[in-house]
Amino acid sequence: MTSGGDSPGMNAAIRSVVRTCAFYKIECAGIYRGYQGMIEGDFISLDARSVKGIINKGGTFLKSARSQEFRTKAGRQKAYNALKNANIDALVVIGGDGSFTGALLFSKEFNFPVMGIPGTIDNDIAGTSHTLGYDTTLNTVVDVIDKIRDTASSHNRLFFVEVMGRDVGYIALNAGVGAGAEEILIPEEDLGLERLLESLKRSKESGKSSSIVVVAEGDKIGKNVFELKDYVEENLPEYEVRVSVLGHMQRGGSPSCFDRVLASRMGVKAVESLLANESRLMVGLMNDKITVTPLHKAIKGQSKINKELIRVSDIMST
Ligand code: F6P
Repeated sequence: MTSGGDSPGMNAAIRSVVRTCAFYKIECAGIYRGYQGMIEGDFISLDARSVKGIINKGGTFLKSARSQEFRTKAGRQKAYNALKNANIDALVVIGGDGSFTGALLFSKEFNFPVMGIPGTIDNDIAGTSHTLGYDTTLNTVVDVIDKIRDTASSHNRLFFVEVMGRDVGYIALNAGVGAGAEEILIPEEDLGLERLLESLKRSKESGKSSSIVVVAEGDKIGKNVFELKDYVEENLPEYEVRVSVLGHMQRGGSPSCFDRVLASRMGVKAVESLLANESRLMVGLMNDKITVTPLHKAIKGQSKINKELIRVSDIMST
């Protein structure tokens, strides 16, 4: 099943899980609409040919949802009954933080074997350097910021570009460095409004004609991007400011080669782990090796932003 916000590479991961099952001659079913479909018994039998032609497709053909009902004990009981009725005896959950929290609870309550595959563009999962979809999203964001830069420099403007990342700054930091942003505002580092103004002032004085400031949607500077625009225009009238909120286009599109390969590797490991009677683990990538981490260690707040990259970003904006 896929659950939570979709991400590019989820289809490639489903394909990998299904084909690995076919390889080991295990029956495989897909669950539609995440935990909600699990509660409703919305399953489909999948064989190796059912997943043809999807490795290059964004989104998830099994669809995804954020289920409120699964948060209740009664909802999880219904889900368990539906799985048992369908003779399903192990689960691979492709999703993010919330999906893993649900999977862990469910596994403990019903002693049900589960494996997690990290699929979220936010990259906010510990135990893996990359979640599925993150690389594709970075490429999408860099591509769009390059385009914004063209118009920003034609008009000598400053752009605030808001990128996704509910509570974290991975997309902002990496895409910001990749696109040559002057400043990057992320929740992990509070730049502060005064320092932002100083930095923009310095930027003008050093001869830069246009500027891009990348802002993570979860940034905690205390103002949203539109308020930041007003604040900068009030305090630095020499700047003409525009805002671009990239939104859900960051989650769509064909997965990068990196995400397709990662999805294929992770799907194999997830099924092989279940076959080895392992459970409550998440498959991850560490130093280009496929690894497993206990699900409870993968969950929120435990992934760490790269401090070295913050330093690189500071030096690059000189
Ligand atoms: O978790 C992935 C993500 O795209 C976040 O970056 C964003 O805050 C959130 O999902 C948006 O969720 P929804 O599509 O439900 O509005």
